[in-house]
Amino acid sequence: MSTAPTSQQTQRKLYIESYGCAMNFSDSEIIASIMNEHGFVNTNDELDADVIFLNTCAIRDNAEQRIRERLKHLRNNKKSNNDLIIGVLGCMAERLKSKLLEEEKLVDVVAGPDSYRELPKLVAEVDEGGRAINVLLSREETYGDLNPVRLNSNGISAFVSIMRGCDNMCSFCVVPFTRGRERSRDPQSIINEVLELQKQGFKEITLLGQNVNSYLWFGGGPKKEFKSLTPEEQASSVDFADLLELVANAVPLMRIRYSTSHPRDITEKVVLTMAKHNNICNYIHLPAQSGNTRVLEAMSRNYSREWYMDKITMIKNIIPDCGISCDIIAGFCTETEEEHQDTLSLIQWCEFDFSYMYKYSERPNTPAAKKFTDDVPEDIKSRRLQEIIAVQHKMSQEKNARYIGKTVKVLIEGNSKKSDNDWVGRNDQNVVVVFPKETYQKGDLVEVLIERSTTTSIIGKAIGMTEL
Ligand code: 5AD
Ligand code: SF4
Repeated sequence: MSTAPTSQQTQRKLYIESYGCAMNFSDSEIIASIMNEHGFVNTNDELDADVIFLNTCAIRDNAEQRIRERLKHLRNNKKSNNDLIIGVLGCMAERLKSKLLEEEKLVDVVAGPDSYRELPKLVAEVDEGGRAINVLLSREETYGDLNPVRLNSNGISAFVSIMRGCDNMCSFCVVPFTRGRERSRDPQSIINEVLELQKQGFKEITLLGQNVNSYLWFGGGPKKEFKSLTPEEQASSVDFADLLELVANAVPLMRIRYSTSHPRDITEKVVLTMAKHNNICNYIHLPAQSGNTRVLEAMSRNYSREWYMDKITMIKNIIPDCGISCDIIAGFCTETEEEHQDTLSLIQWCEFDFSYMYKYSERPNTPAAKKFTDDVPEDIKSRRLQEIIAVQHKMSQEKNARYIGKTVKVLIEGNSKKSDNDWVGRNDQNVVVVFPKETYQKGDLVEVLIERSTTTSIIGKAIGMTEL
């Protein structure tokens, strides 16, 4: 007898909306894979959906406010479709837990980042007439055995998750509470996924984790258990540099990127591995957060301004043209004007290609919220952020202008935002490059001669196909 799902089950449509970091976008592909295996099909039309999942972010208050607003709009969807199921997933779900069900009557499902395998069951509970929640965090879950379904993909570049959680406990950050303990994914399952992507025609992968330099495979489980292994077991473990090497050798024709690095954990071994392989891009996202040692200490970042600068020097000594980007927080608790100036001077000294810059947003129950008062007034935070943005923009402009007259290698990702006559892609250093299409195709790796630049991109003309 056939056990095929009923037609009603096969027809149910899932719409997923992702917010926040790349990790969330990658998780949505895992969620789609789980739901597809249980008979749901994906739709890009929210009005056509039977189930709407919002995969949420909790890193700053405004990220959560955005979700609250979105939920207000979804009332109309529910009005026109009584059976519509709405789920709030990810970091905001994990942070608020059942409070979210109390506060948002519209929400039927609440699921944290480690409970996605339970989603079909949670939806079934709602079918039975209830509301459903699972926010258990796991010590082992990496979803390593699943084959993510690529959503909204350009067919060229894809994210590959290599670890989950974070053990760093930076004092401002909610992530260790929403994504749980750090655990690494089996390298063989990572290689399998990368080979599958290559088979599907993808040309670039980004290895993802909250702190990829802390990646360590020793058979699975929480990273903190590594200490209790025998010396032999420890010696046979796979660290991030080893993993990079494995992936670079497995797919020599694919471009490899990774994100995010923690300055405390980035090693010479990793940078030397990057230098050794043509297919690993010369680009590192290395969040400093602040340029002042006392503030860094209050942030529990475990490094000083000088340590950070030494890391930049180490990287530039090994890979002189390495692209480096940064995350900066303006107006962290107790930050003085002088300490803020240190952040401005660090941006200039490091010559970041670009930065993601934010005002400090206190997150409930984080170490900073417990230990300090959020005492930098809002107008001062805003002014400091504007100053940081101004210095970074000037730096980006200068750095991009240095490309004029030079050629760069670009992987074509798709149409430029401004014109269908132009392609857009990124160079090795992750700078956005725009140029006329001519006869080139999406997925081609081309040499582009740069003619002009802006704060956010470099613009030129392709002069031929090239190799990694
Ligand atoms: N307020 C502002 N920015 C934050 N980030 C993390 N937590 C906070 C917070 N509470 C920023 C950091 C981090 C990036 C992902 O988000 O810069 O690197
Ligand atoms: Fe948050 Fe720090 Fe972990 Fe990054 S490294 S996710 S900032 S705790």
